[in-house]
Amino acid sequence: VNKPRLYSGMQPSADSLQAGNYIGALLQWRTLQDTYDAFFSVVDLHALTQPNDPAELRVKTRRTAAQYIAAGIEPSRSTLYVQSHVPAHAELTWILSTITGFGEAGRMTQFKDKSQRYGADQTTVGLFTYPVLMAADILLYQTDIVPVGEDQKQHVELTRDLAERFNTRYGRAFEVPTPVIQKDTARIYDLQNPTAKMSKSAESDAGVLWLLDDPSASAKKVMRAVTDSEGSVRYDRENKPGVSNLLVIYAALTGRQIPAIEDEYAGRGYGDFKKGLAEVVVDEFGPVRERALALLDDPAELDRALAANAARASEIAERTLADVYEKVGL
Ligand code: ADP
Ligand code: NA
Repeated sequence: VNKPRLYSGMQPSADSLQAGNYIGALLQWRTLQDTYDAFFSVVDLHALTQPNDPAELRVKTRRTAAQYIAAGIEPSRSTLYVQSHVPAHAELTWILSTITGFGEAGRMTQFKDKSQRYGADQTTVGLFTYPVLMAADILLYQTDIVPVGEDQKQHVELTRDLAERFNTRYGRAFEVPTPVIQKDTARIYDLQNPTAKMSKSAESDAGVLWLLDDPSASAKKVMRAVTDSEGSVRYDRENKPGVSNLLVIYAALTGRQIPAIEDEYAGRGYGDFKKGLAEVVVDEFGPVRERALALLDDPAELDRALAANAARASEIAERTLADVYEKVGL
């Protein structure tokens, strides 16, 4: 009954999630929902820090939620909701922003990277305070653990600092969360550029495996993946990043160990190996895609599930927020 609480989320920043989101996040979340009281959010407020098309955002939000469910996140077991459906996220963000140092926020490396990429016009105050919103996401639910990629570790550290600072200054209102950093073996790289992380916001999607793509399109992308001239199916991240990445995907999707896969393809060429992996990808993503499309066929039903889960999230979030308001004198 008293399971520790877990919080994680993803931005609805594309029509489809990619293989890295599936392997690095959804597959882990699916397992973690047994042991934790898990909260999985589609963080649409965060997505507003990128160039926005209102009609598209609404579609992407629903599609992202459908893919969570299709990948095995159960809305009857975990709390799967849309961030903006719970107003407490925005409200707590304001309070936390008043205890966040300007210089402290300015040290966030993701902000520095993104503001450089986006340019002056798109470097908004929202992009700057993004980590404070993320802190509110986590702290509202008295979260114990936060599974994140390495790139989000600094934001969880900030979250911990803010929780401790508030608790010290005003009295204990927040659990101090612990980040659980994603394993290296769960990191997936672009099939065309295997030293860059696979991403929904990659400039070209030639090396991106989309969860909702037609299976034959994904199979083609696997067959065209960049390898090397050595010809042996062997894991060596440094010298064989392409083949190593394919091995990691193969292992993650089958639950097999990399050495066993190397053995199976010993003395055979990359063509055979890629054909094998293409089958694995089609077998795994095909049914996920079917389930997601079926859910999207009945948006009213999906919206009902999301509303019920948002109500459950709100109840907890409102409790934390009321305590915080009381403590700061509001
Ligand atoms: P994207 O770069 O596709 O927009 P996000 O930054 O929104 O991905 O990340 C959403 C979740 O998916 C995070 O938990 C992140 O760690 C995970 N993730 C994203 N890309 C990858 C990848 N290439 N390999 C492993 N995990 C990934
Ligand atoms: Na994210």
